[in-house]
Amino acid sequence: MNTPRVLRVGAVCLIVLVLAVSRSVSAQDGDPNSGKAEYQILCIECHGTSGKGDGRVAFGMFPRPRNLTTGKFKIRSTPTLPTDEDLFEVISRGMPGTAMPSWAALSEATRRDLVAFVKTLSPEFREAGPAPAAPSQETPQMPELRSLGKIFAQGRQLFQDAGCVKCHGPTGLGDGPKADRLKDDWDYRTLPPRGFSLARMKRGRTVEDIYKILLNGMGGTPMPSFTDSLSEEEMWAVAFHVWTLSAAGVPSGL
Ligand code: HEC
Ligand code: HEC
Repeated sequence: MNTPRVLRVGAVCLIVLVLAVSRSVSAQDGDPNSGKAEYQILCIECHGTSGKGDGRVAFGMFPRPRNLTTGKFKIRSTPTLPTDEDLFEVISRGMPGTAMPSWAALSEATRRDLVAFVKTLSPEFREAGPAPAAPSQETPQMPELRSLGKIFAQGRQLFQDAGCVKCHGPTGLGDGPKADRLKDDWDYRTLPPRGFSLARMKRGRTVEDIYKILLNGMGGTPMPSFTDSLSEEEMWAVAFHVWTLSAAGVPSGL
């Protein structure tokens, strides 16, 4: 074996080793078996034994506990599956305004184990491979402060023109003409929120969180993605408008 060949073989071995180590590191992110044990204590009453959202206390809840077996999630930063971080955040924060509690009091390791277990319930995560689907969009950039006046006016107009009013109504009270006829993908009736309120925003209360909802919509619900119909600037404008329709507070980054 001459020296360059030894080097080449060595380099290949090194790459294989690095890949193997990085895979096992990502697999260590959460342990699905420990997650399952926690799930059976903490989540089963609502989400059910097999995760179908049919736990003992689920009946009569509105919205219903998520059916975790269909690969559809409301909070996701990709057009398809949520990333591990999305699931981690939603489990930590809970879904304000619904029965889904915040689990922030659990250790981070336990919440990561729960994420790993939740992912075993939908075959879609296995089909997508071991790595979580990567976010499809860059982290959004806040528009410049000096252009905010223009943005608010544009946002108010777009709330009309982009069709938000059809479901959310002219002032976001959830009283648009389509609002009473909406169903989700699990065949339950669903409604836009009865008025936007920062305290009850399911993804978080900053303008950026609202912008992210407009990017990817809310999986399994009639709330669509506006990536194809609005520019980035327009989505920011309408996100600011929704934010002003909600309770007082300070938008992130200002
Ligand atoms: C008291 C009932 C209840 C308990 C207990 C509960 N959940 Fe939920 N969960 C809900 C409801 C209701 C929703 C749906 C809210 C919605 O659709 O807006 C939900 C939604 C979710 C979602 C979907 C988030 C999304 O983006 O769509 C995940 C993931 C989840 N729960 C995980 C858990 C885990 C893990 C536990 C246990 C640590 C747990 N839940 C315990 C009621 C509960
Ligand atoms: C076809 C009806 C429909 C249209 C059109 C629509 N929405 Fe929605 N929207 C919904 C529904 C239903 C929900 C509630 C989803 C859920 O939580 O189950 C929702 C949720 C939201 C939320 C999240 C609220 C929360 O509590 O977290 C925001 C923000 C939002 N919509 C903004 C908009 C904006 C801005 C537009 C227009 C650019 C728009 N929506 C267009 C139906 C619609």
